[in-house]
Amino acid sequence: MIDKIKEYIAEVEDFQAKSKEEIEAFRIKFSGKKGIINDFFSEFRNVAVEQKKEFGQAINTLKNIAEEKVKLLKEEADTSTQYQSKGEDITRPGEPISIGSRHPISLVKNNIIDIFSRIGFNVSEGPEIEDDWHNFTALNLPEYHPARDMQDTFFIQTDPDILLRTHTSSVQVRYMENNKPPIRTISPGRVYRNEAISARSHCFFHQVEGLYIDKDVSFADLKQTLQYFTQEMFGKSKIRLRPSYFPFTEPSAEVDVYWGLETETDYKMTKGTGWLEIMGCGMVDPNVLKNCNIDPDEYSGFAFGMGIDRIALLQYGILDIRLLSENDKRFLDQFIPAL
Ligand code: PHE
Repeated sequence: MIDKIKEYIAEVEDFQAKSKEEIEAFRIKFSGKKGIINDFFSEFRNVAVEQKKEFGQAINTLKNIAEEKVKLLKEEADTSTQYQSKGEDITRPGEPISIGSRHPISLVKNNIIDIFSRIGFNVSEGPEIEDDWHNFTALNLPEYHPARDMQDTFFIQTDPDILLRTHTSSVQVRYMENNKPPIRTISPGRVYRNEAISARSHCFFHQVEGLYIDKDVSFADLKQTLQYFTQEMFGKSKIRLRPSYFPFTEPSAEVDVYWGLETETDYKMTKGTGWLEIMGCGMVDPNVLKNCNIDPDEYSGFAFGMGIDRIALLQYGILDIRLLSENDKRFLDQFIPAL
């Protein structure tokens, strides 16, 4: 009889069922009222005394594994019907996830940061809502200075003046106030000017300004740095510096890069000259250094500033600056995946 029980134990262990009906039939066969296990229990009193212990253990084992098996099979059947009922096939490969793209402004900005970080410039940032001191006065633009009109300003509040910064030179002032020379920093960020919106200009755009302050910094250092930049950025190192005016630099210059006249677009972009204006620059005015507690007799420095949006238009052949802020997915999808 013990052997018979062992055979049943093996049968229970091997049993597999697909449907709930099969499992129920199995349960009735073993654990039902008139099932095999109860039959064995009724046999118990007829078993010889010396075999009772072994026999008892064997039916208990059979009883436990049969119950365990039914429980397990039911759980399996439940989970598989859950998926079946939703019509899902869990072996199907997932939907491809679109990885998105970087905005052209970010691509250009990151490239510029990369180029200057290779020659020791760090990145500094500041607030977009500025006070008069950091945007104008400290930069050698006292009240009523006519050059304030060069940049039409959005005022948030007057007296004291609070405004949307018109350039990221304000970050340079903050940086000089809080750090001692040598200073090598670039400040990328969004700036605002009260200008009519068209294909060529917008009321907000992005700049990167650079500042280098140390002992004996000369105009030649500025020119070398700019040449290094245009070579790395555009693969072109032929530049020219045209005398210009900024209140915060003296002398000041406008930087043109020789773009060439190879294609029709080159002609259009450079108005037939081959030269393209890309930034303003100059030697930091001693008054600005003084305003930021840096001794102009000990230190000198240069600064430059460029618009990121215009460079992005140029590099990607984008014809309308407004596309950069419209968030049109068809436009954004055209830029390199962000990986
Ligand atoms: N801040 C100037 C502008 O916004 C650019 C500039 C920066 C010029 C630094 C010279 C030096 O036009």
